[in-house]
Amino acid sequence: MELLKDTALFKQASFVNGAWLSAESFFSVTNPATGKVIAEIADAGVVEAELAIQAAKNAFNTWSSLSANERGSILRRWFELIILHQEDLARLLTLEQGKPLAEAKGEISYGASFIDWFAEEGKRAYGDVIPMPSADKRLVTIKQAVGVVAAITPWNFPHAMIARKAAAALAAGCTFVVRPASQTPLSALAMAELAQRAGVPDGVFNVVVGTAARAIGKVLTEHPDVAKFTFTGSTAVGKALISQCAGTVKKVSMELGGNAPFIIFDDADLDAAVQGAIVSKYRNAGQTCVCANRIFVQEKVARAFTDKFVKAVAALKVGDGLAQDTQIGPLISPQAVTDVDSLVNSSLQGGAELLLGGERHAAGEYFYQPTVVAKVTQDMPLAQEEIFGPVSPVITFKDEAEVLAMANDTDYGLAAYFYARDIGRIWRVAEGLEFGMVGINEGIISNAAAPFGGIKQSGNGREGSRYGLEDYMEIKYLCFGGLDK
Ligand code: SIN
Repeated sequence: MELLKDTALFKQASFVNGAWLSAESFFSVTNPATGKVIAEIADAGVVEAELAIQAAKNAFNTWSSLSANERGSILRRWFELIILHQEDLARLLTLEQGKPLAEAKGEISYGASFIDWFAEEGKRAYGDVIPMPSADKRLVTIKQAVGVVAAITPWNFPHAMIARKAAAALAAGCTFVVRPASQTPLSALAMAELAQRAGVPDGVFNVVVGTAARAIGKVLTEHPDVAKFTFTGSTAVGKALISQCAGTVKKVSMELGGNAPFIIFDDADLDAAVQGAIVSKYRNAGQTCVCANRIFVQEKVARAFTDKFVKAVAALKVGDGLAQDTQIGPLISPQAVTDVDSLVNSSLQGGAELLLGGERHAAGEYFYQPTVVAKVTQDMPLAQEEIFGPVSPVITFKDEAEVLAMANDTDYGLAAYFYARDIGRIWRVAEGLEFGMVGINEGIISNAAAPFGGIKQSGNGREGSRYGLEDYMEIKYLCFGGLDK
């Protein structure tokens, strides 16, 4: 890894109990921009997952007994080291995941911001004193760390999705075992190296990398010593994992798929709406759960918006994320390109109109052209499914009632966006959208202080914010009796 200033950040083995584990077999990590192998990783499995849980269990009492200040200082050092090595971490991230380097740097500071934020928020895990129900009693609640947390994280944000979960878990006093996606393990392993340098004790933060996804997932979801399981990924996989957790009644939090509506009303600032739609839709080549998935435009402004939008999308530069001017990188795999292409084609066959793109990109088999499709209807695959690619379906609507009905007509409920200026309309629509997060005149809503999460089949629990800390704590009620003399 000659591209890194600090080559010790390039690790190719699981990190368990403060040690890098060897293995009998290895798997390759590929740069999606070039198709070239960039790492050979020791392939961990069930045994290593069990070792990691044991290590996390052993470390729990000591870590959870530290004061919130002590844990906060260690987390703060971890945050500082991540920022110090932001450039190297971003390169690793672009190499394994493909997103443009500027976006990768953004992801590192976004991920690190959760560690910074929870280093402080851990100090505010207050309990309550409850007004007494009778004179001889006092009622108090305290909050305590849940225990060992297991996590499975996705390839689209290989750094930030781990940071967002681990920061809250560690701040709360939990210990942590994560299985990152096998397409993108390098970012997770570099985080482990920096966690160790920051003084995170052995066993508190463990990373198990392996291709046996189902088998490792089964251990993490069914092991009796895991108290909480958290997952970011597809709704289909999330449902299976939730049911695996049922046998041991684990606390679960799930950040699952989305089908975000992005609505432009006729009183919107159209230039701002175009900008918002570009960042919301085309960030990470459209591979985010909170991406605008369906763009609804009110009839009166449909033509004006679409003209401006198509022009802005056409100007996006596609290429290797390490090239300076790239704005859209590759998709994660050739299969992802095929899936996106077939969603586009089946909607075109159903009567949708292609305004831009609509084909594989000449940059290579991992690339797809930034695409805009108009005359999309609610029943078409492009409106029904999570696209996870650089494709914008545009749907026109008449009025508020119609667009709310269409926007909510999905099993998903993660993020929604709308652009409008009328204050009455803003409140009505914000309240009417059945989604966990709503961006109002704003295309990027994620940050450490905000509760990130969905409703309906987009999941449960919240990440980031004070609610994110609560997800890693149990409330214990203490009843003090016999106080009358
Ligand atoms: C996701 O795609 O699930 C994460 C996006 C974000 O944190 O903004």
